[in-house]
Amino acid sequence: MPEIFVPKEVVEGETRVACTPETAKRYVKEGFDVVVESAAGKHAHFTDERYREAGAKIVAGTDAEAAWGSADIVFRVYPITPDEASKIKEGAILIGFMSPHKNLDSVRILRDRKISTIAMELVPRISRAQSMDALSSQASIAGYQAVLMAATYLDKYFPLLMTAAGTIQPAKIVIMGAGVAGLQAIATARRLGAVVEVSDIRPAVKEQVESLGGRFIDFPMDESGEGEGGYARELTPEQLKAQQEIVRQKVVAADAVITTALVPGRPAPKLITADMVKDMREGAVIVDLAVEQGGNCELSKSGEMVIEHGVTIIGHPNMAASTPADASLLYARNIQAVLLGAVTEGEVVLNLEDEIFAGALLTHNGEVRHGPTAEAL
Ligand code: NAI
Repeated sequence: MPEIFVPKEVVEGETRVACTPETAKRYVKEGFDVVVESAAGKHAHFTDERYREAGAKIVAGTDAEAAWGSADIVFRVYPITPDEASKIKEGAILIGFMSPHKNLDSVRILRDRKISTIAMELVPRISRAQSMDALSSQASIAGYQAVLMAATYLDKYFPLLMTAAGTIQPAKIVIMGAGVAGLQAIATARRLGAVVEVSDIRPAVKEQVESLGGRFIDFPMDESGEGEGGYARELTPEQLKAQQEIVRQKVVAADAVITTALVPGRPAPKLITADMVKDMREGAVIVDLAVEQGGNCELSKSGEMVIEHGVTIIGHPNMAASTPADASLLYARNIQAVLLGAVTEGEVVLNLEDEIFAGALLTHNGEVRHGPTAEAL
């Protein structure tokens, strides 16, 4: 039977786990042996006992070290370190987020050890692969958490309140980027009663924004901001400047700004300049979800909460990890859909004729299959 190994995540702040007791049970039912490193589910509150009840074997210490080398399939949340990549059995399968452009050393080792690496961020976003879409499942959680964090650090209420002591005006929230994270942020902020204004450069999202109760900030452009695959394209410096002018007024009047704007393969667009932050009111909050890609705000710092001109700027690099149980639950199901999607007559077959595996395999048979990563190497 193929053996799945679920190691403990090692990166500081990574609270998620790539296999839950629920998915472990399913793998066991499908005939896999499941080996879980002791305490792998600790932060998400899945105890070793629950994995045991699901039919998994719990290992620790030298047995966990050995499991790296004996497993046929290894699951990860956070990109694997070079040291861990060297421990995986040659020819095995690794499934997890990879951030390949930032982890070229690991990719090189995985290639040389002929590991078949399924990078979750490379799973094509086609309808058939929706259940495998970990970018969406995690971005949605990040959007939700960003709003809760803004509400926590903001010095005022989100909703309109009529009290005996007078009326409280609702908070004004600006959301930049209405992709998966942004749409969830709109929905969450609206549920909390805030007034929400939204900027995006893909005209297609206007309707979605409005259907969630947000007001779309129109940004007239000669050509559409939509690029390949339904994603945004990078704006020219002149267009970016024009957009900054348009959103400036909204940003400086806002109580909180949540930024989620990304362009695939490019640094995040700088939508909020230092100058705009200076003109915001003291006590306002910015949550920059694009901080790992360089940030949408000029003043945000990854992993830090900074206060500039009285404005709190939160640059959380791994927001989905703030909701470990549900983030793990969804991510583990995404991985389950990928792996079980490869099972044919009781065997795991990575079929390169299938566009899902053709797209998601970062390394396979000693090759780096993802063009931009191969080029970077
Ligand atoms: P993303 O994380 O790459 O970008 C987030 C948002 O930032 C996007 O809406 C983008 O238009 C926006 N943005 C980029 N530059 C901007 C700028 N200068 N100003 C304001 N906003 C800017 O995108 P995400 O959230 O991963 O997905 C976006 C697209 O992918 C959508 O079209 C979505 O519907 C589609 N999608 C399709 C799926 C499927 O068919 N299975 C699943 C998930 C997403």
